[in-house]
Amino acid sequence: ALERTLSIIKPDAVAKNVVGQILSRFEGAGLKVVATKMAQLSRAEAEKFYGVHAQRPFFKDLVDFMVSGPVVVSVLEGEGAIAKNRDLMGATDPKKAEKGTIRADFADSIDANAVHGSDAVETAKVEIAFFFPEANIYSR
Ligand code: CMP
Repeated sequence: ALERTLSIIKPDAVAKNVVGQILSRFEGAGLKVVATKMAQLSRAEAEKFYGVHAQRPFFKDLVDFMVSGPVVVSVLEGEGAIAKNRDLMGATDPKKAEKGTIRADFADSIDANAVHGSDAVETAKVEIAFFFPEANIYSR
């Protein structure tokens, strides 16, 4: 099905100057960037965005990391966009990510893991709405 997914290029990848390379991988796989912006997340925004992880032991490190520098937030659209983006990203832990995936190539650790992508249709809806009003998504 035609889907939308939320992508975040995290502070480590922005600092490494590989934003263009990562967006190119999305485009090369047939995903279309239908919204994008650079943003410095506040602690409150990062805590709210990752609210489902609030009780996990890694929550504080995750939030600290996500506010450590600017991120690039995008909406990607295409056939099976959610799974396609997850395949491109590779496993959450870059040590376990398959060769040629974004995390294998650009990530340093499970916290500094270069990218976030929505994991299901329902979470994609919530995550996209968190950053972009429908009027600022340019698909047709
Ligand atoms: P992300 O897809 O952005 O979703 C939550 C993030 O928490 C995840 O990527 C990792 O960067 C980070 N994280 C740190 N430790 C863990 C862990 N043990 N399991 C899952 N995610 C973790």
